[in-house]
Amino acid sequence: MELKKKLLFNPDGDTDPGSRRIIGGNTTNLNDFNNMKYQWASGWYRQAMNNFWIPEEINLGADVKDYMLLSADERRAYDKILSFLVFLDSIQTANLPSIGGYITANEVNLCLTIQAFQEAVHSQSYSYMLDTICEPQKRMEVLYQWKEDEHLLARNTFIGSLYNEFQEHHSAETLAKVLVANYILEGIYFYSGFMFFYNLARNRRMPGSVQEIRYINRDENTHLWLFSNILSELRREEPSLFTPDKESLYRDMIAEGCRQEIAWGQYVIGDSIPGLTRGMLTDYIQYLGNLRCRNLHLEPIYERNLNEPENMRWVSQYSNANLIKTDFFEAKSTAYAKSGALKDDL
Ligand SMILES: [Fe+2]
Ligand SMILES: [Fe+2]
Repeated sequence: MELKKKLLFNPDGDTDPGSRRIIGGNTTNLNDFNNMKYQWASGWYRQAMNNFWIPEEINLGADVKDYMLLSADERRAYDKILSFLVFLDSIQTANLPSIGGYITANEVNLCLTIQAFQEAVHSQSYSYMLDTICEPQKRMEVLYQWKEDEHLLARNTFIGSLYNEFQEHHSAETLAKVLVANYILEGIYFYSGFMFFYNLARNRRMPGSVQEIRYINRDENTHLWLFSNILSELRREEPSLFTPDKESLYRDMIAEGCRQEIAWGQYVIGDSIPGLTRGMLTDYIQYLGNLRCRNLHLEPIYERNLNEPENMRWVSQYSNANLIKTDFFEAKSTAYAKSGALKDDL
């Protein structure tokens, strides 16, 4: 099914929320906060606004000293992981508006707009970390490793090609694929990076960088929740996008995303970082792959690691600070915390 870009100025669009659709609807683009069809979008929007934070408010003074104390392997991993994360958040900032051009539920577009803003803040936080911690020449080198390191380029090509496919051909099918690709990026690709930073925290190193990552992780959890809702609505409205063949395609994409994330983790972390091993990393990514499949109503990919590995519990302890979880609407009001409330209490 070909998708036409929605009209920007459209006085003849539907005003009845009941006729609103995720794709293929006839929207006026009016931001009407009182008449939303998808009520979850309203809660998400307010939560995201509450989560506003400013990267430069976190002090990186200790990190400047700690960075020099890291082993050469830890510094290499720090640089490469930052380079990957900068790329991911940058491409997210650019991709979300292009998805929004085809989403005809305006409340969902409001969410995508806030998400794009948050992705910009995330890339700003990496820039702040690089500016503060690295020499100018090193900073440039790290920024461009995403295309100069062959391992990094290969894996960026997988997600980048899926994003480009939607740029070149606008159909319901390519849109569904780009939504799943987004889900892989948010829910799997960030995680060997996150676990590396949280492992530094366990070793009492780089506290400011870890705090930046925790704020980013808090936002990413909400992005994952947003996309899982968009995909669930799409499943209801466009069942032809979720036939067994299509489901198996999405599951294969997630499996390939996991395979690449594990290979990347082996390359960048391996067995040379105290506190992490190849086995721990593999188990955790497999667990995430199974979890992401379950959330999209797909069969798990791996027979093992259906539950969170015992020896990786610390990752969710860091990422779920202040009870911020994927199902955050079920959390108590303490979850609705402004940035200042995310204390380093672990
Ligand atoms: Fe992000
Ligand atoms: Fe995100």
